[in-house]
Amino acid sequence: MPSIAEEVASRRTFAIISHPDAGKTTLTEKLLLYTGTIQAAGSVKGKSSAKHAVSDWMEIEKQRGISVTSSVLQFTYDGCCVNILDTPGHQDFSEDTYRTLMAADAAVMVIDGAKGVEAQTVKLFRVCALRGIPIFTFVNKLDRETRDPFDLLDEIETVLGISTYPMNWPIGCGQNFRGVFERASRHVLAFEGDGRANATKKVDEIEAELGDPALDELIGAENHRNLMDDIELLDGAADEFDLEAVRAGKLSPVFFGSALTNFGVEPFLKDFLRLAPAPSPHKDALTGELVDPASDEFSGFVFKIQANMDKNHRDRIAFLRICSGKFERGMDAFHMQGGRKLKLATGTAMMADDRAIVDEAYAGDIVGLFDPGIFSIGDTLCAGKRRVQYAGIPTFAPEHFARISQVDTMKRKQFVKGMEELAQEGAVQIFREIGAGMESVIVGVVGVLQFDVLEQRLKSEYHVEVRRQPLGYTDIRWIANEPGSVDVKALDLTRDTLRVEDMRGSKLLLFTSPWNVDWAHDHNPELELSEFGNVS
Ligand code: G4P
Repeated sequence: MPSIAEEVASRRTFAIISHPDAGKTTLTEKLLLYTGTIQAAGSVKGKSSAKHAVSDWMEIEKQRGISVTSSVLQFTYDGCCVNILDTPGHQDFSEDTYRTLMAADAAVMVIDGAKGVEAQTVKLFRVCALRGIPIFTFVNKLDRETRDPFDLLDEIETVLGISTYPMNWPIGCGQNFRGVFERASRHVLAFEGDGRANATKKVDEIEAELGDPALDELIGAENHRNLMDDIELLDGAADEFDLEAVRAGKLSPVFFGSALTNFGVEPFLKDFLRLAPAPSPHKDALTGELVDPASDEFSGFVFKIQANMDKNHRDRIAFLRICSGKFERGMDAFHMQGGRKLKLATGTAMMADDRAIVDEAYAGDIVGLFDPGIFSIGDTLCAGKRRVQYAGIPTFAPEHFARISQVDTMKRKQFVKGMEELAQEGAVQIFREIGAGMESVIVGVVGVLQFDVLEQRLKSEYHVEVRRQPLGYTDIRWIANEPGSVDVKALDLTRDTLRVEDMRGSKLLLFTSPWNVDWAHDHNPELELSEFGNVS
């Protein structure tokens, strides 16, 4: 029987992030192929279906008939127990992705080699940077015409502000793509595909050494010459490989490949598992001490709450990231925010009928707990003598705002209840004008589709019809000064700046332009503003 420490050391928990269409789904699917989770992977079709927006994996599940939860996929490979956290494909639900990143120990950033760093890449990257987790880059679609690899690295460094270390180097691209040079082994892995999708067969990889005349034949004399020049330049100019910098999220190992044609995926997976960290200690906000993931005492935090697929909104699942100890089905745990003991009898990673029930799990693993409406995002559960409480999940800046009010004023109670419960679940963020009641609520979302989901759910689950009035706020800032140290009403602000508070009572400001944010800074030198709420 492996010890808790051995179980933890074998865990790798990460999320894959990308701008839509860069290849996150394809890469995920190929990782499953290599690990034998999917025997015959194929392109995931059905992009136009509404389901795709909710979860790519549900689509995979539906098509392949395999058991994948909509939240985490676990498999073993090379002695590692790997947890890939699902993040929604549609950018309107990226708030969910942001929260999921709080439960990951590393991130894989997929970049389309032709497009480089895109808008959504930047946003997701910033959330990873907030946590300081290691970020691995997979430059995808080398089987197509891509941009110059030096340019791509330069863009990653300047736009995202992270150093890069190419682990391999592409030889040509598109029609002329011949493979990659692996810098550590100094071997060429030759690409033998014809550039077409070949999802069920692994592409052959032939190893040869740089400078070997046989390479002229394999990759072409000109490609060989260019490659030698590139590598000389890289070896001379680039940063040294520094594992500590990788672990601190300051240096991103970069891999070039093609997920669709399966090229470079397995070497990437092997290196990733070797370099990515096992679950590291999380800080107990009560004492400031680090909690050892291999300790005997169970603890974890809720990072996501999802209403079940059936219509009953009370049937919710709280996803818990385990931070220490061993989870056992049926165990007792203390819910810190609720201040009481609970039996985690219904703890399952996968709630739907035919999915496996989790009997035990360790730090790095995710379990889904049946939630009768008692959990909020950021809550801590712990067992044993020691009480720990993890810092909450930050609130991410919404990008669209609307005033939501009920059509039938007789239904005030349901309206307030619905708004509060949906906000608690993280479906939307709600704000109240300071001094105003709950007749109307200001709702902030990251993607406008969240408004539609809100209206739909208020109607079907709470029987409340609402009116939506879009508001022109573009920038939101939490007041980061010590609570009570700033008189919010007395701040010198432009007239169209709105003073509001969130569900936790934190004060914040809504601005109609970045110019107004600067104004607030200039006219209130003491004022500290943050783009994230509740970060500690
Ligand atoms: P996402 O999850 O990041 O949104 O991207 P996804 O994997 O769905 O990939 C987006 C499109 O890019 C897909 O085309 C996919 O086949 C293609 N793609 C992914 N990796 C590669 C690669 O390495 N090379 C090439 N050439 N294409 C790749 P699709 O399903 O045909 O999209 P659509 O045409 O149906 O919209």
